Amino acid sequence: MKDQKTTPNIAEATNDPHSFADPAAAIIHHLDLKLEVNFELKQLKGNARIHFRNRAKSDKIILDTRNLKIEGVRLDDESKVSPFHLESEVEFLGQALIIPIHPETKSVSIQYSTTDGADALQWLSPEQTAGKQFPFLFTQSQAILARTWVPVQDSPGIRFTYEAEVKVPSGLMAVMSAENPTEKNTEGLYRFSMKQPIPAYLLALAVGDFVYEPLDRRTGVYAEPVTIEKATYEFSDLPKMLEIAESLYGPYAWDKYDVIVLPPSFPFGGMENPRITFATPTILAGDRSLTSLIAHELAHSWSGNLVTNATWNDFWINEGFTVYFEARIMEALYGKDFADMQFLLGVEELKKTIEGFGDRSIDSHLKLQLDGRDPDEGMNEVAYEKGRLLLVLMEQTFGREKFDQFLKNHFSQNAFKTINTEQFIEYYRSELVKGDSAAEKAIDIERWVYGPGIPENAPQIRSERFEQVALEVDRWIKGNKASTLNTKNYSTNEWLRFIHLLPEKLRPEQMLELDNTFQFSNSSNSEILFAWLEKAVVNAYEPAYPVLKSFLNEVGRRKFVRPLFKAMIKTAEGRKMAEEIYKTSRPNYHSVTQSSIDEILYQN
Ligand code: BES
Ligand code: ZN
Repeated sequence: MKDQKTTPNIAEATNDPHSFADPAAAIIHHLDLKLEVNFELKQLKGNARIHFRNRAKSDKIILDTRNLKIEGVRLDDESKVSPFHLESEVEFLGQALIIPIHPETKSVSIQYSTTDGADALQWLSPEQTAGKQFPFLFTQSQAILARTWVPVQDSPGIRFTYEAEVKVPSGLMAVMSAENPTEKNTEGLYRFSMKQPIPAYLLALAVGDFVYEPLDRRTGVYAEPVTIEKATYEFSDLPKMLEIAESLYGPYAWDKYDVIVLPPSFPFGGMENPRITFATPTILAGDRSLTSLIAHELAHSWSGNLVTNATWNDFWINEGFTVYFEARIMEALYGKDFADMQFLLGVEELKKTIEGFGDRSIDSHLKLQLDGRDPDEGMNEVAYEKGRLLLVLMEQTFGREKFDQFLKNHFSQNAFKTINTEQFIEYYRSELVKGDSAAEKAIDIERWVYGPGIPENAPQIRSERFEQVALEVDRWIKGNKASTLNTKNYSTNEWLRFIHLLPEKLRPEQMLELDNTFQFSNSSNSEILFAWLEKAVVNAYEPAYPVLKSFLNEVGRRKFVRPLFKAMIKTAEGRKMAEEIYKTSRPNYHSVTQSSIDEILYQN
């Protein structure tokens, strides 16, 4: 193995278009955070001490901030305040915080508080939680929102360890992406330590009334008391998932792996905060059918958290690898049939997304061009599903055994490092292709990475069970009663396929027949309900409107909320309903979801 010791977190740390930091000059290696959580003011207040290496004898260190109130800066242990300067605001990126330093300065201390513009934070009233008794706070730092609650070098290429002390109102517990408490303490003072170096987008904090239930020695679940039982049931395969993951791609590097179930406004399905995945409660289906999301976040412990995309233009290095890895876990756990159905659902989404972009669009390249844009724009099926397709093509071309060994080496040799697309291509050529020019040509990686659409050599997958679903849908279209269809023992994936295969336009009596027969509007499975509600909106199926309204008022998961609003605004009637619903639902959404819906409703 090559010498990795001398430059642990630098080589790739430059050229991030979404950070003001100049890591070649002065680069953070440790963060000491002291915060007080104030639910009345909806404010975090405290101190961030940045320990750094001055690699170029620089006379300043540059940090990323956005909408922070900087109260004072001190160098090292000095008691007197030191000058600082906030540069002017840049769209999406915020403001560079420039702190003059001396050649011998080792750390800077920043006294600060957050403001209403802290987009990472969502402050929830008791009514917005499951238990309805206590307030709740959670953060979402990816992609570039860490800087709205901590002044830090907010680039995926810059890693640091951290320690934190967080004061919360008594009666509440706090967890971070770090070593965590498993019980409340009466003072409400919690200490955290993250000993493995992580990039800023993996900084995370949640505060609320939750309890911990271990699943085994290494894994467990945090959830509100009223949810904990359901959650532990749902996630009971976690220990097995972790073992499978390790047997595939090497030892788990983060000691513990827990999941915290957040309130329904959490804007994503899951977020791979190290040691503690943040998850939406909408995966609690009661039958463990939506847990591939947990496999996905767990897989990020290797792809993403251990080997990290250098910039958000290389997002597929995080997500494409993770979708591939997730599918391997699910295949080992539930079989190839299951994994193939998920795969097909993913490809279906990818095709829709690319169609929406137009198939020449640069946004359908794996290597993204997000400079000057919000990196959030890269968060779509391209990185996830086109990325996965490329890796499956490699697997098929070189054989699973060889490919697994390659990936395993990739995770161990690049552990705690950053890698960009070009470095991966180089690594792929030297460690997998190894001069096999026929294979190199058959894959044509450049076409995948720097070209649009889905290349012609994409792997083709088939699912016997989905083919059966298609036959049943056909029978119904040809006039057979819904009640005569053979849908016995359909899994969630088959129901999703069933709904997706229905004709775009359906008559009211057809919607009614399907609903009465299959009870879609009453589904307790969020994915099925969502797929059905989309149909309901497109076909103005009024009996589902009450459910639609309460769903949108409660759930802030963008993957569900955005398509429903998009569908509603296609007609004048629908737009009226959308605006009506949004009046009451907007305050329940996290800023990430709010921005997306604001754009749909008011910027077109
Ligand atoms: N890391 C992502 C979430 C993310 C990406 C947040 C970019 C902010 C910016 C997470 O791992 C993820 O991909 N979540 C998916 C679920 C997954 C099963 C595809 C989600 O939330 O929908
Ligand atoms: Zn992911």
